[in-house]
Amino acid sequence: MSILVTGGAGYIGSHTCLELLMSGREVVVIDNLCNSSEKSLARVEELAGKPLKFYRGDLRDRALVQTIFRENDIECVIHFAGLKAVGESVSMPWSYYDNNLNATLVLTDVMAEAGMKKLIFSSSATVYSAGSPMPLKETAPTGGCTNPYGWTKFMTEQILSDLCRADPEWSVCLLRYFNPIGAHESGRIGEDPRGIPNNLMPYITQTAIGRREKLSVFGSDYRTHDGTGVRDYIHVVDLARGHVAALEYTCGRTGCEAFNLGTGTGYSVLDMVHAFRKATGVEIPYVLAPRRPGDVDECYSDPSKSREVLGWTAEKSLEDMCRDAWNWQKRNPMGYGE
Ligand code: NAD
Ligand code: WQD
Repeated sequence: MSILVTGGAGYIGSHTCLELLMSGREVVVIDNLCNSSEKSLARVEELAGKPLKFYRGDLRDRALVQTIFRENDIECVIHFAGLKAVGESVSMPWSYYDNNLNATLVLTDVMAEAGMKKLIFSSSATVYSAGSPMPLKETAPTGGCTNPYGWTKFMTEQILSDLCRADPEWSVCLLRYFNPIGAHESGRIGEDPRGIPNNLMPYITQTAIGRREKLSVFGSDYRTHDGTGVRDYIHVVDLARGHVAALEYTCGRTGCEAFNLGTGTGYSVLDMVHAFRKATGVEIPYVLAPRRPGDVDECYSDPSKSREVLGWTAEKSLEDMCRDAWNWQKRNPMGYGE
């Protein structure tokens, strides 16, 4: 029996493949490498000391997905594959709806055909409507997204929960990630964004290594303790382990359930700059800049449902996140080098 990991060569997927292999599972990956490198998978195999099976291709390719189900005995699917850049989704909405929605539709259709209806989906805190009280519980209202990327996550959650409602054989976990950062402690796998990073931590580490001149802190007049935006940063290895916990849960039941994967603690942009210096000794030059459109003052989770139901809790500290992110960047100044 194997776990099929879509988008397994990517940032969160590669860390999850490693945790799956380390927990004794067999892993099959499909990835078209549109935002990743096959090197990540080679390094996962090297760290785990065992192989995984890789299909290079697009999840919207129905014949390929059917072949994967024919050639492997799949027990559950973890579905990471998708496009994820918020700004790009505003300028290329069709590509985001096509990629993120059609991939899920083809995947779930082939799964139903194969009679295998267990799925873990990479959702996001972005599905929560603005204006909800913090910390966010899974029962908080969703929708009112501010960009096409967010809508694809919202719509996919709707599609999957409708599938579960129509067919009681489906078992779906919607994992709502907060802000994943950091890297495996070996420094062999990590986040390798193409072009100028949109997200805070890769921008910080690329500034530290000299690829960027200085960090622009977007907004210093938010209603937070120091005026800069507050988020719930979570170590990617904790996040990956959350998928292993969700796997046991998904395989043992039916229905659709949403879970927050976060630490429950919010840190501001300036807290992150200071934590990075404390953990690594590297000072990050920064300037205060205008707000970035679409940003909110603060966003952090209530992770108690994941703790109580999945038996999972984030264990790594902010210092671990900063140290491991920097270790990855230092050892791989140009990421996977492509
Ligand atoms: P990533 O871009 O590193 O990984 C996604 C992977 O999917 C890539 O390897 C890419 O090549 C692959 N892919 C994309 N479209 C594909 C397709 N049609 N067929 C086959 N492969 C395809 O991103 P990530 O940060 O690892 O995110 C993984 C998932 O988690 C995504 O669905 C993302 O939306 C979601 N998520 C990410 C974050 C975050 O901050 N990183 C937060 C919340 C949710
Ligand atoms: C964090 C904070 C910025 C860069 C995004 C997506 C979300 C989810 C995770 C997928 C904010 C500030 C950032 C910079 C800055 N992804 N910042 N200077 O916006 O919370 O979430 O990634 O689902 O959908 O929207 O994360 O890392 O971009 O920003 O000051 O150069 O850092 O304004 O306060 P965000 P982020």
